[in-house]
Amino acid sequence: MADAETVSFPQNRTCPYDPPTGYREHRGQRPVSPARLFDGRTVWLVTGHAEARSLLVDQRLSSDRENPAFPFIAERVASSSLRRVELIGVDDPEHNVQRRMLIPSFTVRRTAALRPQIQKTVDRLLDAMVEQGPPTDLVDAFALPVPSMVICALLGVPYEDHEFFEAQSRKLLRGPAAADIEAARDELDNYFGALIEQKRAAPGEGLLDELIVKQLETGGVDHEELVRLAQILLVAGHETTANMISLGTLTLLQHPGQLARMRESEELMGPAVEELLRFLSIADGIARVAVEDIEVGGVTIRAGDGVILSTSVINRDESVYPSPDELDLGRNARNHVAFGFGVHQCLGQNLARAELEIALPALFDRLPGLRLAVPAEEIPFKPGDTIQGLLELPVTW
Ligand code: HEM
Repeated sequence: MADAETVSFPQNRTCPYDPPTGYREHRGQRPVSPARLFDGRTVWLVTGHAEARSLLVDQRLSSDRENPAFPFIAERVASSSLRRVELIGVDDPEHNVQRRMLIPSFTVRRTAALRPQIQKTVDRLLDAMVEQGPPTDLVDAFALPVPSMVICALLGVPYEDHEFFEAQSRKLLRGPAAADIEAARDELDNYFGALIEQKRAAPGEGLLDELIVKQLETGGVDHEELVRLAQILLVAGHETTANMISLGTLTLLQHPGQLARMRESEELMGPAVEELLRFLSIADGIARVAVEDIEVGGVTIRAGDGVILSTSVINRDESVYPSPDELDLGRNARNHVAFGFGVHQCLGQNLARAELEIALPALFDRLPGLRLAVPAEEIPFKPGDTIQGLLELPVTW
């Protein structure tokens, strides 16, 4: 399937909120086209919105990372001992069993009930920033602690341990080699193993405590599986939203007209968050493997072929979003695939929305003079083979 125009995937962004320029030629003309991975393997890169939505609900595509043909986007995560990933890396019926266990804690209603607590967390962090005074690194002072505190409270994980688990999560997602990632996973396994035992002896409040009583003690889940599920929830629950808060803040500062619009209208906050999710597409590169042949977008994906969906390009499909490269907080961006689509669609999306809808306006209300403390070009951002976001965001006010 490869040809002279085959692009490599992933590529680094040149601007932290725009898709890599190297994928640009794929827009419109070639909704499903070949791309080359780090190991020289050719896979299908999906960049069309309609094609992506149809493929993400197609059961002929598998999320099973233990399938030897599953495509990995970096050498460090392809190691055989790292392949087994609960929930996000398994197919139905196993996936369905795990997901049903967790869904009640992530519904719109349960998440809405968390809003006052999220607001308190946000206010406390902003108080601390004001007290300390400018300049500060917004990632450290706000973007990371907000989701980290929220997911800790939801799971029943002590926030006092945050430096430990944030460091392990960083290694898990961006460790330089497979050995670093394996070590981080083992550290988190041991941590959650001990925490679960502690909670069995002295139950507390939180999703983990609930799962211990309702699932572990009744044989619905075994110890190892629960340890791994807890790990996924903790990592997915803070790393992603932290990137959205930091990158969302930078994007709004770089689009002052849109920021003013957001600050003028509370009703705009819902659509504004959807537009930021679409525009930033921080989880850029959803991977699948075909288990049967599939005809889509004028090509035939063969059983065994790898498929990568580039959410950043899909979410800039001009046929769905007019002037897709413009940030327009008032547009209807609802059908974006920033949270994926289909059975694996982000479990934490309601929580992430609540956090963003509270954190972003509170930040600009409390610090109306917020601005970058260094030129935008000097702000370091993450490489293309991980979740997109900023490494630091030096700000003043
Ligand atoms: C703005 C922030 C977030 C973004 C952009 C995001 C993005 C995504 C995407 C694209 C997927 C689908 C992956 C696939 O189809 O292979 C996903 C799945 C998932 N996300 Fe999120 N996520 C975010 C926040 C969260 C939060 C706060 C949690 C909280 C626990 C979370 C937990 C999960 C879980 C558990 C899955 C796997 C679901 C499954 O396989 O059934 N995410 N997320």
